Amino acid sequence: MPAEDGAIEIVVCLGSSCFARGNSEILAALQHYEQGKGSKAQVHLSGCLCQDQCKQGPNLKIGSEFHHNITAARLRELLQQLDGPSRGNHAKA
Ligand code: FES
Repeated sequence: MPAEDGAIEIVVCLGSSCFARGNSEILAALQHYEQGKGSKAQVHLSGCLCQDQCKQGPNLKIGSEFHHNITAARLRELLQQLDGPSRGNHAKA
């Protein structure tokens, strides 16, 4: 669901299990994307506490949809979807 300004909300789980499973790499890639260095889509990035889905981590939420077992490759796919098919992949995840 877009924010009031039309930006897409991306929420990264910052719990210890998701951290141990590699969410710091995911978070760094998302921060790069949010700053507009790798995207055309406008996003708001935030973190959340454990979502009780640790075994499926790293976890994040884009809009209202949860995504699990996020890898750098999977994140690139998700960000490409946000940018749309004609904008290509500029994210360095
Ligand atoms: S630490 Fe991320 S779901 Fe539990």
